[in-house]
Amino acid sequence: MSGELQLTRRALLVKLAILVNAVLAAVLAVPMIGYLFSPLLKSKEYLQWVSLGSTETFPEGQTRLATFRNPFGHPWDGVTDKTACWVRNVGGGKFQVFAINCAHLGCPVRWFPQSELFMCPCHGGVYYADGAVAAGPPPRGLFEYPWDIRNGKLMIRAGELPTLSTRA
Ligand code: FES
Repeated sequence: MSGELQLTRRALLVKLAILVNAVLAAVLAVPMIGYLFSPLLKSKEYLQWVSLGSTETFPEGQTRLATFRNPFGHPWDGVTDKTACWVRNVGGGKFQVFAINCAHLGCPVRWFPQSELFMCPCHGGVYYADGAVAAGPPPRGLFEYPWDIRNGKLMIRAGELPTLSTRA
């Protein structure tokens, strides 16, 4: 009788240990599975349309500097969440909004209206007014933000720097 009881107690303890291990494995597996599959589930909610101001602040035929706040920023970011871009009013309601970063290694490019060229101070990269590479090491033209006009304001889809993978 006591042998049967011991066997039963042992069997119960084994089952209890299996149950505890299964619960622990499940508790550990949930965050791991969540981490592994998060890229598939994540939407790009950090991408938002932000205003660069009225379209009238960008005269036709000119290229002007504009700044905006990173929509993904935090209050403690201070001025570091301010980003700049170059806005070119092509005319006929068309714009080009260039990332300020050089397509070579990311230095901020500057627009020179006299020569109608963007120039990079780091390694001498040069771009035409339409952002196409003119000279120097950049392997491609300037990256562009997707833009839209809403209620008379020029909007860009911001939140990450535009790259080759950026969809319009
Ligand atoms: S970072 Fe602009 S040319 Fe290298």
